[in-house]
Amino acid sequence: MRIALLGGTGNLGMGLAVRFAQIGYEVIVGSRKFEKAQERAVKYNEVLKKLGGNSRVIGLQNEDAAKKADVSVFTIPWRHAFSTAERLKDLLTDKIVVSPLVPMERMGDFFIYAPPPEGSAAEKLAEILKKSRIVSAFHNIPAARFAKFDEKFELDVAVCGDDEEAKKVVIGLINQIEGLRALDAGSLAVSRMVESITPLLINLAIKSGSKDLGVRFV
Ligand SMILES: NC(=O)c1ccc[n+]([C@@H]2O[C@H](COP(=O)([O-])OP(=O)(O)OC[C@H]3O[C@@H](n4cnc5c(N)ncnc54)[C@H](OP(=O)(O)O)[C@@H]3O)[C@@H](O)[C@H]2O)c1
Repeated sequence: MRIALLGGTGNLGMGLAVRFAQIGYEVIVGSRKFEKAQERAVKYNEVLKKLGGNSRVIGLQNEDAAKKADVSVFTIPWRHAFSTAERLKDLLTDKIVVSPLVPMERMGDFFIYAPPPEGSAAEKLAEILKKSRIVSAFHNIPAARFAKFDEKFELDVAVCGDDEEAKKVVIGLINQIEGLRALDAGSLAVSRMVESITPLLINLAIKSGSKDLGVRFV
């Protein structure tokens, strides 16, 4: 199975790219710019080598990454993800697309959840990518910590989606990543609840002085 991280040049993209490649998947890091994608792929392969793995990451423009992948994760800031989805929608027909998108706004010193009229970022993405199989996941992962490979963690990933088979595939992928436990949280409409946890985590971190909080359901 080939996994693409669209806009996979940021922290969440890096954490997922290296970890999926470590498990043995073919990974494509996508970018708006081919050169940047190539450069990041070299960096991710260097990290993989240090971790004892093989070079499995290639870099392509988002369009080519979407075309070649079976599963594409939108690791793009939410404000820009929807216009990217409009551009890529034909290339993603019938494919699994994962939304980690968290729409939020700053309000003074804190952040609030700012969902679109569709109810959640995942539902808006599904509205644009009508012919894709949308699954919502990874919202509560502290991405900066996730992109450090000497970090140990035990985090839960709540996964939502209306396509049960696609959701099962994504849950299977997540459960192969050391330190992550995927939990089926229900239909895509539940995504708004999961997405809204992320600004709460950030606010708690700001107030308490702790960094990079995640979620574990116990
Ligand atoms: N950061 C977190 O802790 C965290 C946690 C959970 C979920 N998320 C979600 O995961 C997604 C990625 O987060 P991140 O922090 O990794 O993002 P990021 O580092 O801010 O951005 C990731 C990549 O998005 C691409 N991008 C930026 N502006 C763009 C535009 N106008 N059009 C298309 N692509 C653009 C860039 O790639 P190129 O320049 O290479 O194209 C950039 O490297 C977000 O939707 C966020 O809500 C983040």
